Amino acid sequence: MINISFTLNGEKRSASVPPETTLLKMLRESLNLTGAKLGCDVGDCGACTVIVDGKAVNSCLMLACQVQGREVLTIEGLATPDHLHPIQEAFENSAALQCGFCGPGVILSAKALLDANPNPDVAEIRDALAGNLCRCTGYTKMISAVQTAACTLNGKPSEHSA
Ligand code: FES
Ligand code: FES
Repeated sequence: MINISFTLNGEKRSASVPPETTLLKMLRESLNLTGAKLGCDVGDCGACTVIVDGKAVNSCLMLACQVQGREVLTIEGLATPDHLHPIQEAFENSAALQCGFCGPGVILSAKALLDANPNPDVAEIRDALAGNLCRCTGYTKMISAVQTAACTLNGKPSEHSA
C-alpha cells in the first residue's frame, strides 16, 4: 500500500491504496466521492473527468499516486451547501442534461475551460467538451449553458439561456 496526501476540494486528505490504483478508483472507493463516473475506463468517454491543478483530466487514466501533493477538484467541491456553482445553475436552467451520467465530467471540463479562458467562443467550448461523450443530448444546450455560465461569471447579462 502507498499513502497519498493531496488537497481534495480545498481540504487536505490522504488515502492508503495499492500502487496500481487509479485516481478514479481512489476517489470513488477509498474517499466515497462517486460524482466522477466509471464509464469506459480507457479514456474515451470523459465521465470520470476531474480537475487536477487546474486541468481537466480523465481520472481513469491517472494513477492515484500522481496526485501526491497536488490539488484535485471533483464535482462534489463545486457547489456550496446553499448555492449551485454558476455552471451547474446554467446547466440546470438550460435543461442541458438528461440522464445526467455525463454531467459531472462535462461540467468540470467547462469549469477548467472558463477558469483558463473566461470568454470562450463556440469552437473553444466544443473543443473543451470534445472528450466528454453524451448519449442523451445533442450538445447544443450544453454549449449554450457554458455561454450562459461565462456571462454570469463575467457579471454580464446572458443572451444564451435556452
Ligand atoms: S471512464 Fe474515464 S474516460 Fe471513460
Ligand atoms: S445526459 Fe445522459 S449521457 Fe449525457
